[in-house]
Amino acid sequence: MKTRLVHIKSFGCQMNKLDTALVKSALKEAGFDITESLKEADLVLFNTCSVRQHAEDRVIANLGHMKHLKKSKPHLVVGIMGCMAQRLGKELLEHEAVNLVVGPGQIPHIVSLLEAVMHDQGKQLDISNEIRQQAPDNPDLEAFESKHDSDDKQIPGQAFVRIMRGCNNFCTYCIVPYVRGPEISRPPQAIVEQIEKLAQAGVKQITLLGQTVNAYAYEDAGKTYDLADLLVLVSEVNGIEWIRFVTNYPIEDNFDRIMQAMADLPKVCNYLHMPAQSGSDGMLKAMNRRYTAEQYLDLLKHARAIVPDIAVAGDFIVGFPGETNEDFQKTAELVRQAQYKNCFVFKYSPRPGTTSDNRLEDNVSDAIKQQRNLDLLAVQESVSANLCQTFMGKTVKVLVEGLSKKPHVNAAEHNNLPQLIGRTATDWIVVFNGPETLAGHFAEVTINRVSPLTLFGDLASNT
Ligand code: SAH
Ligand code: SF4
Ligand code: F3S
Repeated sequence: MKTRLVHIKSFGCQMNKLDTALVKSALKEAGFDITESLKEADLVLFNTCSVRQHAEDRVIANLGHMKHLKKSKPHLVVGIMGCMAQRLGKELLEHEAVNLVVGPGQIPHIVSLLEAVMHDQGKQLDISNEIRQQAPDNPDLEAFESKHDSDDKQIPGQAFVRIMRGCNNFCTYCIVPYVRGPEISRPPQAIVEQIEKLAQAGVKQITLLGQTVNAYAYEDAGKTYDLADLLVLVSEVNGIEWIRFVTNYPIEDNFDRIMQAMADLPKVCNYLHMPAQSGSDGMLKAMNRRYTAEQYLDLLKHARAIVPDIAVAGDFIVGFPGETNEDFQKTAELVRQAQYKNCFVFKYSPRPGTTSDNRLEDNVSDAIKQQRNLDLLAVQESVSANLCQTFMGKTVKVLVEGLSKKPHVNAAEHNNLPQLIGRTATDWIVVFNGPETLAGHFAEVTINRVSPLTLFGDLASNT
């Protein structure tokens, strides 16, 4: 039979990339081949994101390109998966270039849907109707996930494992609860079995994924397993050496227990990604985040008391409706106090159907959003510039990811060994020269130069 080449591209977060990995595995099992080249593909799948308008605009631009490509390649099949597929459904299907639209909850059907399109059964649409009303457990999805796990080899030695689906928080700006559905925690046994398989395949680092991982709760035989319990179970898997979990919602429940698990379990990396979104209580309230700036900083105090060398990362939204300069200054102050390793800053993007978009006018100009974005990153840069100094002269353990973006830039000075990139357990990026075969393995690097985002050094030895 003729090989059918599929090109699949992710536009979204780690959840989205994980779905891509599961779908790739399912397609390979069904006899499709995956290609990195868009040009040679017979089928193109875009796994889309709706979190900001910009993410959707990129997909629409790519669809324009597909429309053009189809003129010279009429048999080309184009499918849209992911959050934007769920949000826009039929509207996307009407796009001239699109043959198939499939929501995040329907990925187990992807092979049969593609077959239907290829057998001239017309355009296919498969998304959740009334997504917030559906039962959160989706046995199809659970079976699909357990079967196809996630060892996609994009970063050697690492894998992502979902522990929760959906979200019930309804932060007023956020589309995720409307496209990913109600929150549900996966059974610990299914998670552990999946991780055991991954460990046998050589995976050393597992990142547990959820929109609010610290709310993980699974009831079984009268016991409720929380994230701290799950970390214990995952720590017991032989071969797994580093465990991370993202993203955390800043709330007291269970927080100290989870931090204690981090302190007690050597495999759990001392790294906490916990978005604050704003440092202004007024904005936090309008965003329906259920904490004040003071409560947030208090959680960080607890974290640092329990895990002294913890590295913290955050997310912020600038230019939320009604955000004054005074509000923004409070955010800048929070960033100074929080002492993040790094933070991600996003300009508010109104999402249709969310509460903030229904009720509030997007009244901060783009120029001001842009300025606040730059200003906040500058504050963070000065924090990171101080933090990175503490690494000078120290030897750190990293998990090597592979070649850096410019692998040959200084190879001549290092016995022709290329430049590699790795990360510490606390998520600092480390650049050094070494053999490419180190990818997926641990190495020790002595730091001799630092910049706010990156540490540079020389290979000390490898393990
Ligand atoms: N569940 C995670 C975040 C998921 S979305 C959490 O709550 O921490 C990732 C980030 O995108 C969010 O932390 C937020 O900072 C940003 N974001 C979400 N919706 C946005 C919007 N409408 N405009 C701009 N940024 C947004
Ligand atoms: Fe969105 Fe809030 Fe849920 Fe995160 S916690 S996914 S920001 S609704
Ligand atoms: Fe992720 Fe974007 Fe969906 S951030 S969950 S792919 S809306």
